[in-house]
Amino acid sequence: MWDEVKRLAGAGAGKSILARFDNANRAAEFSLNAAGMLFDYSKTQLDEQSRAALLDIARTTGVAERRDAMFAGHAINETEGRAVLHTALRNLDGGPVLVDGADVMPEVRDTLDRMAKLADDVRAGDVTDVVNIGIGGSDLGPAMAYLALKPYADGPRCHFVSNVDGADIADTLRTLDPETTLFVVASKTFTTIETMTNARTAKAWLDDKGVRHEGRFVALSSNKEKAAEWGISEDRVFGFADWVGGRYSMWGPIGLSLMMAIGPKAFRSFLRGGQEMDRHFLSAPLHENMPVLLALVGMWHNQVMGHATRAVLPYDNRLARLPAYLQQLEMESNGKGVSMDGRTLDVPSGPVVWGEPGTNGQHAFYQLIHQGTRVVPCEFMVAATGHEPDLGHHHDLLVANCLAQSEALMRGRGLDEAREICAAKGFEGDELERQARHRVFPGDRPSTTLIYPQLTPEILGKIVALYEHRVFVEGAILNINSFDQWGVELGKELAKSLEPVVTGDAPAGDKDGSTRQLVDYVLLYRG
Ligand code: F6P
Repeated sequence: MWDEVKRLAGAGAGKSILARFDNANRAAEFSLNAAGMLFDYSKTQLDEQSRAALLDIARTTGVAERRDAMFAGHAINETEGRAVLHTALRNLDGGPVLVDGADVMPEVRDTLDRMAKLADDVRAGDVTDVVNIGIGGSDLGPAMAYLALKPYADGPRCHFVSNVDGADIADTLRTLDPETTLFVVASKTFTTIETMTNARTAKAWLDDKGVRHEGRFVALSSNKEKAAEWGISEDRVFGFADWVGGRYSMWGPIGLSLMMAIGPKAFRSFLRGGQEMDRHFLSAPLHENMPVLLALVGMWHNQVMGHATRAVLPYDNRLARLPAYLQQLEMESNGKGVSMDGRTLDVPSGPVVWGEPGTNGQHAFYQLIHQGTRVVPCEFMVAATGHEPDLGHHHDLLVANCLAQSEALMRGRGLDEAREICAAKGFEGDELERQARHRVFPGDRPSTTLIYPQLTPEILGKIVALYEHRVFVEGAILNINSFDQWGVELGKELAKSLEPVVTGDAPAGDKDGSTRQLVDYVLLYRG
């Protein structure tokens, strides 16, 4: 399947990205305007033939059919026997969504209305601080979006406690007033050790301060029984079905803290943005489909060219948590070694995703991106306008830097130009040659840019849904299950067995030498 596209990549390798702009229409031909956003992938080595070959792969692997099966509520999460319908959570004015013949939309709407009612009450009441206690998909989405939508946050302050490291909750509680703090315990399973440990610590903190628990906790979970056992009254438990995966769950109850911060109206705008991207994904032909093209460009770089990582570089400081959010979305979804039928993959699985906002990254790791020996495909993002009209000059600089980076990566700087620069600085002879070589930029390094009008709730919804569907398309082409996460289990099991060992209550005898040595060190310092 990949042979033809690899052959094309080899055949086109002699032509640089810059040279491809000899075609005056390249920018328009290798970009897509959809849902009010522009995705420009012209600064890559893709040509018409390789794009066509990739689109063929998408066709023959049945991406469109699998997409339709997902939206139709089929149990496409085959290892867990579940439908995948987070899209129903943002199906604001769409039709019925059937699971096993029953329309799930009335319950989705009812839950959204209940969330809005509580959010309004909280926003009108005396709660000053909301602490979302959750981890992974029960933390990263709302934490990312709360920061992203700060200009819209006119409700209580939100805090996100995730780590089982006591430092996380201790540092958060230190700043809070127990009388005006609300804890939102977010856990799909309501069994996750980090979350339940932090939630118990929150309870103990209230006890210590002499504040009753009643009215101080809300639960967000698909395990309503466990939430009830935990003593949270039914009207303060917001459930969601097992067809919402943890890392796809910020559109429903897991988004409650965000809704409290920005209000139900802005939260609905966020959902509407996601819904618009769903409609685009469902209806646009593959060659004009933004999630499909984003996925294919990613696969061109990873599975075809062999670049093992990709950098997500938002030139939008409020998207500082987006790379971490995408790490879970992409790597927990597509970091799999076997296909649906259990066979070992014959191409690499999803790439390592990492990143930081620009311009900060420029003063840190961009050195490697520009001159290191590994090629890192970069995904730039930037808004045409910021939220600080009085600081327009900052935004101009931000945009200029974003565009400059993709241009620099593509153009590079040859040895002759580097020599001229060094000669102008007064270097001569061998020293000029040596200095010049340090100033060469290989160039021809690929990047894409996603540009949008402004980081509003609606645009954020579109961006998140775009990336969700990109992950879906990549998973469909690789024929892997993007919706389970068995790879997180082994570590959890071992941690359980190691807990009594690190407290000294059980021997480390059956452990390997390294683990025993590390345990001994801990025990020495525990005293
Ligand atoms: O350990 C991984 C994981 O299961 C994620 O998939 C999930 O988002 C996270 O843990 C938290 O799970 P829960 O919401 O059930 O607490």
